[in-house]
Amino acid sequence: MQQLITEGLKKILYTKNECLLSTSSATGLMEACVRNLIKDDEKALFFTVGAFGDRWHKIGVSNGKNSEKQSVEWGGVITPEFAQEILEKDKYAVVFIQANETSTGVYNPIDKVIPIIKDHGALACVDATSSMAGVKLEVDKLGVDVCLASVQKCFTIPPGLALCSISQAAIEKTSQVKNRGLYFDFEEMLKKNKSHQTPSTPPIPQMRALESQIDHILNKEGLENRFERHAKLAKRTQEWAKSLGFEMFPTNEKYYSNTVSTMRNSINIDISKMLSTLVSKGYRIVNGYGSLKDKTFRIGHMGEIFLEDLNKMLKVLSEIVEGLK
Ligand SMILES: Cc1ncc(COP(=O)(O)O)c(C=O)c1O
Repeated sequence: MQQLITEGLKKILYTKNECLLSTSSATGLMEACVRNLIKDDEKALFFTVGAFGDRWHKIGVSNGKNSEKQSVEWGGVITPEFAQEILEKDKYAVVFIQANETSTGVYNPIDKVIPIIKDHGALACVDATSSMAGVKLEVDKLGVDVCLASVQKCFTIPPGLALCSISQAAIEKTSQVKNRGLYFDFEEMLKKNKSHQTPSTPPIPQMRALESQIDHILNKEGLENRFERHAKLAKRTQEWAKSLGFEMFPTNEKYYSNTVSTMRNSINIDISKMLSTLVSKGYRIVNGYGSLKDKTFRIGHMGEIFLEDLNKMLKVLSEIVEGLK
C-alpha cells in the first residue's frame, strides 16, 4: 500500500525523488525539515507571507536553529526581486517557503523564486499543504528539495498523515546534521521506506483512503483535469465576490490562490452572522485568519468540490449577504 502511495505521489509531484509518508500532520514534516536540514553553524531563511510562514519560522526558533524571517505585508507574496535582494545579502543553508498561504489566499510565484534560491546554493523546502494535488508543482523542474503536505486539504482524506518528496541533496545533508530527534528523523523514515513502512505505527485507514484517492486523481479524474477544475473554481469564486462588491484580499490578481479565496469585507457586513447563517443552511466557509477575523473571510474550494457544489453554496451565500447589507 505504501509503495502505491509513494509511487503515485511521484507522479503528482513530477519527480523522481524519493517520497515519504509521515505519521503526523504537515506540521510534523515542517518540523522534520528544520531538525534534519540545518546544522548548528548554519543559518536558515524563512520567507513568510502569512500565518503558516510565521509558524515555520517559529518551528525554526523553537528548535534552537539560527532562523531569519523575511516577510511581506499580508496579502502580498515573495516576489523574485525580493527573494534575490534578500539572498544576495547573506549565506543561507536552507530556505523555507509556502506555495499556497492558506491564511491569506495567495500563491507565491515559486516557479520563479525556487530557481533563485537554488542559484544561491541553498536547499529549498516548500510547504504545499493547501495546494498539493490541486495546483501543478513540478518538483524536479524547479529543483525543490523537500515538498510537503498533509492529506486533509486537496487530497480530501481524513487528517492524520503527511507526505513529502525529498531530494538526494537533502538526504545527504540529513546525514551531516546532529540531534535530529527520533520521531521526525528523515534517516529513520528513509530506512523504513525501503521496505514500504514508517518508523512508527501508521494510521492505516488514512493510508487506505489515500491509496484509493491517488488512484482516483491519477487514473480517473486525471491530474491536468484536476488542476484545471481548481482554477475554474477559483475564477468562479472571484467573479462571485466581485458581483457582490467584495474585493479580493491578495494585492495582485496574478497571485490569487486556486484553492482558497480570501475576500475583504469591503461592504462592511457582519461576517460572523453571515457564517453562522450559512452553517444553519448546511454549508461552512471560514472567517479571516487571526487578526484578519471579520475583516476578511475565506472560501475553500479544493479537493472534491465541483462547480455545481460551489454554485449551490454561492447562491445561498448571496441571499444571506443581500439580507445583511
Ligand atoms: C499552508 C499550511 N501549512 C501548514 C499547515 C499545517 O498543517 P497541519 O494542520 O496538517 O499540520 C496548514 C494547515 O492548514 C496550512 O494551510
